[in-house]
Amino acid sequence: MQKMAIWQAKQWLWRTFSSMPSNPLRVCVVGSGPAGFYTAEKMLKVQQQAQVDIIDRLPTPFGLVRSGVAPDHPETKIVINQFSRVAQHERCSFFGTVTLGSSISLSELRKLYHVVVLAYGAESDRSLGIPGENLKGIHSAREFVWWYNGHPDGRNLDPDLKSTDTAVILGQGNVALDVARILLRPTTELATTDIASHALSALEESSIRKVYLVGRRGPAQAACTAKELREILGLRNLDISIQEPDLILTPDVEEGLKSNRIQRRVYELLSKAATSRPKSDAGLSKRQLHFVFFRKPDSFTESKDRSGHASGVYFEKTVLKGVGPGKHIAIGTGEFEDINCGMVLKSIGYKSVPVDGLPFDHKKGIVPNDRGRVLSDTSGESTLLEEGLYVCGWLKRGPTGIVATNLHCAEETVSSISEDLEKGVLSSSSPKPGRDGLLQLLHDRNVRVVSFSDWEKIDSEERKLGSSRNKPREKLATWDELQEYTL
Ligand SMILES: Cc1cc2nc3c(=O)[nH]c(=O)nc-3n(C[C@H](O)[C@H](O)[C@H](O)COP(=O)(O)OP(=O)(O)OC[C@H]3O[C@@H](n4cnc5c(N)ncnc54)[C@H](O)[C@@H]3O)c2cc1C
Ligand SMILES: NC(=O)c1ccc[n+]([C@@H]2O[C@H](COP(=O)([O-])OP(=O)(O)OC[C@H]3O[C@@H](n4cnc5c(N)ncnc54)[C@H](OP(=O)(O)O)[C@@H]3O)[C@@H](O)[C@H]2O)c1
Repeated sequence: MQKMAIWQAKQWLWRTFSSMPSNPLRVCVVGSGPAGFYTAEKMLKVQQQAQVDIIDRLPTPFGLVRSGVAPDHPETKIVINQFSRVAQHERCSFFGTVTLGSSISLSELRKLYHVVVLAYGAESDRSLGIPGENLKGIHSAREFVWWYNGHPDGRNLDPDLKSTDTAVILGQGNVALDVARILLRPTTELATTDIASHALSALEESSIRKVYLVGRRGPAQAACTAKELREILGLRNLDISIQEPDLILTPDVEEGLKSNRIQRRVYELLSKAATSRPKSDAGLSKRQLHFVFFRKPDSFTESKDRSGHASGVYFEKTVLKGVGPGKHIAIGTGEFEDINCGMVLKSIGYKSVPVDGLPFDHKKGIVPNDRGRVLSDTSGESTLLEEGLYVCGWLKRGPTGIVATNLHCAEETVSSISEDLEKGVLSSSSPKPGRDGLLQLLHDRNVRVVSFSDWEKIDSEERKLGSSRNKPREKLATWDELQEYTL
């Protein structure tokens, strides 16, 4: 109550003496990942009248830059500095622990703001829909990544890394490579990263020595990129195994590779790895990474000794079928094979989830949109626009693309907003309550809001804890711990 009064007084002083426009364009961005921050940054730049509020369900900003990007990729996280400058802009605010769909509904948000940009990413998983998928020991890569990256919703995953020496990873994209690397990298190298301490301890005691990375298509279609592949192939104390017959290309695949530099580089790296001699580091227990191609998961097998636990994956062998220029899908051959393992990580892609009242294309897993403008109906000839409602990032395009992809995505969405303002499709002439209305509503509902300066307290505590352990930060990884530093 007292905090709210102080905040309101500060707001009044600030409005009175700052250059803030008297009747601003009230903009709310939902989600503080790359898409949210790039949108806010562009909005503040191109619309001098805009006041931008970013809300996030977590008390910590930056989305997957904090909870997705691997701990051993610190250079990718430098973008956080740029995002922090945006949050500190005089016309921008960050409000954490505000969840669209429970703290506030979409229709309420739209009444409070002229413009709402949804950038809340993809927080669920694609599923395989095959028998045994719910057995213990099977996790989505998203859950596993949240666990090692200290996401408060991943804290209780507690994957069993001690009862088996073998893990199977389904999928061969960059996320699959990330989780394989975390399982296989010497823990002495992870110890100086910002990996969550509970994950580091579990990995130090892990008995997993063998990881299978399984793709339903071939080495020329693997979804990973060369830099990330090179990194895992170069891990210390790791033997790589690739079956050479899998590298044989059909003439049309070979032809297609000539014009696809990214896939050609991946194929060349895999070919080179298949023929290189095993590395030997005396004195260290060896780990193995097996790339397996042309296998699609058919079912999971249940352990006879441990009821309810997975003991392996049953695969159908596949061949490629051309379905258009340079496009190939995997077709089952009717031949089967299994791989025994005690842990499975499904890394077959993330999935966005709709909130109440939001048009959603369940097949594509995105919000239907025209260059970021949310469409209410795409079934007929004409398309209807949801006035003042926009989308950006993985929720707009689907769960692919690197951090920088969201910069271009945000530019597109913001230019659609500007066009709509110019054309009068979107009006900002009638005042809207914006930030004051949002905070009042949240206050009435007893939703405790975390400000950017509250986050800075968490940040400083994490850095302090980290420095005593020779880590860049030690993440506060439970809701209770996070709340403690923002009270
Ligand atoms: C495991 C992994 C590793 C990656 N590593 C790299 C890498 O090394 N380099 C690289 O360039 N790219 C990497 N990427 C890709 C990059 O992270 C994404 O392109 C990018 O984060 C997508 O941005 P986004 O803003 O759409 O979603 P997100 O980053 O997911 O942000 C969404 C935000 O919305 C919030 N939110 C969710 N639901 C709600 C709600 N209902 N109400 C309010 N807030 C909500 C979330 O808390 C989150 O902060 C990686 C992706 C993954 C999955
Ligand atoms: N370091 C980095 O830059 C970095 C790190 C992590 C993530 N990212 C980015 O984040 C995005 C998401 O990565 P991602 O790995 O989750 O997705 P992705 O690149 O789309 O890879 C998904 C993988 O799952 C497989 N798959 C999908 N459905 C399947 C099914 N039903 N059965 C079997 N296999 C299936 C795909 O095979 P098919 O190809 O046959 O469909 C593919 O191998 C990507 O753009 C990635 O580049 C970047």
